[in-house]
Amino acid sequence: MAAFGGWGKAEFASQFSESGGLGIIAALNFPDINEFKEEIQKMKTLTNKPFGVNLSLPHHRLNNSHEKNQAKKRYFKYVNTALEENVGIFTTSGYKAKFIGKRIQESGAIWFHKCVVLKHAISAQESGADAVTLVGLEGTGFKNPLTQTTLINITMAKKLLDIPIIAAGGIGDARGFLGALIMGADAVCLGTALMSTRECPVSEDIKKKWLELDIFSENVHKKIYKYNTKSFMAPSTAIAHQIHILPLKEYLSKLIRDSELIFESFGLT
Ligand SMILES: Cc1cc2nc3c(=O)[nH]c(=O)nc-3n(C[C@H](O)[C@H](O)[C@H](O)COP(=O)(O)O)c2cc1C
Repeated sequence: MAAFGGWGKAEFASQFSESGGLGIIAALNFPDINEFKEEIQKMKTLTNKPFGVNLSLPHHRLNNSHEKNQAKKRYFKYVNTALEENVGIFTTSGYKAKFIGKRIQESGAIWFHKCVVLKHAISAQESGADAVTLVGLEGTGFKNPLTQTTLINITMAKKLLDIPIIAAGGIGDARGFLGALIMGADAVCLGTALMSTRECPVSEDIKKKWLELDIFSENVHKKIYKYNTKSFMAPSTAIAHQIHILPLKEYLSKLIRDSELIFESFGLT
C-alpha cells in the first residue's frame, strides 16, 4: 500500500492488510504524537496481519542546522513511538532519510525507502535500506525533474541494485502488476488503484468522478507528468483500469486471478 497523506489511517490500512497486502499508516496524518500512538493501537485491534508506518520527509533540502535539528526531533518522535508499539516495518519517502533508517534498523525493524530517481535508490542501498520503492513518472505525487518511467526505473534498478525492489507508478491491473515483476520488481506498491476501492475514505460521488476520468486529457497529463507540490493529489492513469468501486479484498483477488489467467494464456501455470 502506498503512503497516503490524508487517508493512510488505521481503518483503511487495516483493511488492506486484512486483504493480503501491507497496510501503511502515514505518520504525518497525525500531527499530535499521542493520536499517532492511539492510531497504531487501533490498527492492532483491527488486524493482526503485518502493517507498516510511513514517514514522508520533505522533498527539499533543509536550509540550516536549526531546521534540520527540528525535523530530526520530530521524526525521531514518530519512529520511537511506533517502535514502542512494536511496529516492525517502516517506509520513508523524500529527501535524506538515512538518519531515520539507521534508528529503525538499530531497533531490529525493517526499513524500505521510496524514491523517484534511480540515483537516490542506489544511495538508499548504500545507506543500508532493506528494500527500495521506485516510483516512475506514471505515478501520482512528487516528481523530481529527472524521474524516469516505471519501465526504465525498474529494468535498470534490477541491473544496478542488490536489494529487493518495489515498483510503483501507474500500476492498476494484472498486466501492470505482472509487467513490473517481469521487469525485475519483487513487489508492487499501489496508490491510485486503491483510491476507488470501497474502503478508501472518500465519498462515493468523488470515486465515481475518478472512475470517469479521461486519462488522455491534457489536464490529467499535466497533473501527472508535471506535478507540482501545490496541486491536489490527482489519480494517476492507474485509475483507468478500475471500472467499479470494489471492496479491497475483491480488487486484490481479481488482480491475482487475472494474473493467473494471463499465465495460463502463455501456457504457464
Ligand atoms: C491521495 C494520495 C496521497 C499521497 N500521499 C503521499 C504521502 O504523503 N507521501 C508519499 O510519500 N507519497 C504519497 N503519495 C504517493 C504514493 O505513495 C505513491 O508513490 C503513488 O501513488 C504511486 O503511484 P500510483 O498512484 O500510480 O500507484 C500519495 C498518493 C495519493 C494518491
